[in-house]
Amino acid sequence: MNIITSNEGKFKEYKKIFPEARMHNVGYHEIQADTLEEVVEQALITLKEHAPLIIDDSGLFIDEYDGFPGVYSAYVMHTLGCKGILKLMKDADNRNSRFECVIGYMDSTGNIELFKGITDGIITKEIRGTGGFGYDPIFIPVNHEKTFAQITTEEKNKISHRGKAMKALLIDREITR
Ligand code: IMP
Repeated sequence: MNIITSNEGKFKEYKKIFPEARMHNVGYHEIQADTLEEVVEQALITLKEHAPLIIDDSGLFIDEYDGFPGVYSAYVMHTLGCKGILKLMKDADNRNSRFECVIGYMDSTGNIELFKGITDGIITKEIRGTGGFGYDPIFIPVNHEKTFAQITTEEKNKISHRGKAMKALLIDREITR
């Protein structure tokens, strides 16, 4: 199975579930769209020669900002980073947010399927932890005390948006939250 990504952090999470996975850094164009699903569907079409494959588009959706950064999460990570988000939310009372992950799977015949996982949580008031990647140091999943950056990859996979999307792909095809 080819995992098409340039993100080492994501690949590490896939590798725990798909030990035979190969990281394939071919780069593809992400269209600007309103949903992760649209981004994934459009990208898959351009990657047919690499099938069977998985691509993954994810984002952090913050309630206080009606879901922003959402599909713009990569750009906001690049420009503001975790520190910028904390600064923006300095006085925000509503710190509810969620991570969403959409996995696009294309089999060797070119059939496409999408799988989604969602994990609700809150944005911390400070950076916590050094593990993981991206927004992990500022996100605590509901009913937990540690951020994604303070737990192991195995623990993150059990509760994360990506872990849920992988489970849907492998087992029950249910969208879980
Ligand atoms: P993309 O799916 O690679 O476009 O990711 C969008 C942005 O969200 C990037 O800046 C990632 O670092 C971040 N991101 C995606 N998944 C996660 C995650 O599981 N934890 C923390 N940040 C993530």
